Amino acid sequence: MSVRPARTADAAAIARIHVASWRTTYAGLIPADFLAGMSARAQQSRWSEILSAQGRATFVYVVESDGEVVGFASGGREREGNPRYSGELYAIYLLQEQQGKGLGRKLFEAVAGRLADTGHRAMLVWVLAANSAARGFYEHLGGSFLGDARHHVAGLQVDEASYGWSDLEQFSPGRAWPAG
Ligand code: ACO
Repeated sequence: MSVRPARTADAAAIARIHVASWRTTYAGLIPADFLAGMSARAQQSRWSEILSAQGRATFVYVVESDGEVVGFASGGREREGNPRYSGELYAIYLLQEQQGKGLGRKLFEAVAGRLADTGHRAMLVWVLAANSAARGFYEHLGGSFLGDARHHVAGLQVDEASYGWSDLEQFSPGRAWPAG
């Protein structure tokens, strides 16, 4: 297993994982017709743009298992101008069969460490309020519940919860948890 910064050539793999993981994660939580209508091709062009625009503001990591990309995470500047949390974990998704093996923690640490190394002290994440498994993951990794809000995600109105970490230095590579 290894975590590395994503390259433009990873767009197709990330798009496939994005669609597959949304379908398994959000079945029953997001309208079925929306999930069925998701297209790996459309996601690929979206991810190609994101990957070619990577820098301080936005970045993406992937995790490989047996030489295959099986998950990804993206992060960057917090998007709503929160005065306390300047960094944000935008997305973190693994294929269902790769969940629960420690890969999510490695991706999370890579994003948090990168934010710490680029001057962010704190980060937050927004998660679908009904996604109790992911909420448990964030709580286990030390996230503090910050509040709820209704957001537009991919054109849908959804209830989300936010969690925050105010001590990102602990995730900085070379400290307690290398970004690996
Ligand atoms: N409750 C309590 N603890 C948990 C939970 C939970 N629900 N889930 C994981 N943990 C703990 C694990 O026991 C482990 O503990 P340890 O490292 O101290 O032994 C730690 O959290 C890390 O667990 P991992 O095995 O690394 O978690 P995983 O690889 O499954 O990654 C993730 C978590 C990314 C949420 C993955 O399960 C996934 O892709 N889920 C589906 C997609 C999803 O919901 N993504 C988040 C959407 S929100 C957003 O993207 C911003």
